Amino acid sequence: MASFNTIAGCVLASALFAMVVGKVSNAVVHPHKLDKPALAVTDDAPAAATAAAPAAIEIPPIGPKLAGANVEAGKALFQKQCFSCHTVDKGGANKVGPNLWGIVDRPKASHAGFGYSSALTAKGGNWTYEDIDHLIFKPNAYVRGTKMAFAGLPKEQDRADVIAYLRTMADTPAPLPK
Ligand code: HEC
Repeated sequence: MASFNTIAGCVLASALFAMVVGKVSNAVVHPHKLDKPALAVTDDAPAAATAAAPAAIEIPPIGPKLAGANVEAGKALFQKQCFSCHTVDKGGANKVGPNLWGIVDRPKASHAGFGYSSALTAKGGNWTYEDIDHLIFKPNAYVRGTKMAFAGLPKEQDRADVIAYLRTMADTPAPLPK
């Protein structure tokens, strides 16, 4: 026979359970709103992107900054920020990311033996200085759904230095933009 205590215990337990379920479903049903509008940095549909995200942040072209960039600083930054996932020497292995030898002007998502995301594969075209700049500024904003799990380099000078370094890592470095 159920004692009063057992019944009281059951009532308490179901009340607690209901509270927990309530909290959990609240969390599931009410996702957090973004504090800031999501970035939309893209080069293939600027008009559509502007319409969809009025607060899109555009970054100024990196080309004019490359001639004065610091290749040595770019190399140090690469080793700190990129080397965990990318080799950049000629014939270097693919790691978490593809080898980046000769990346400037290389067709996107084209390095042998690397399994690219369909998002990057769909991008098409060659890696221009500006495209690389957009990728390393905010990978997931430039290629929505990319496998490159990297937050990005917010500082323009850092990106200019890294790109200037990447440019040198090629059989024939691509010409600097005028
Ligand atoms: C956490 C690992 C990781 C880090 C850190 C990282 N990357 Fe990547 N990167 C990737 C992956 C994975 C891909 C392939 C992306 C895809 O398929 O969507 C990629 C792709 C790229 C590509 C395109 C390559 C191609 O063949 O099309 C470039 C350029 C690039 N990364 C540059 C950089 C630079 C420069 C840095 C440092 C500032 C960096 N990455 C940091 C993982 C990383």
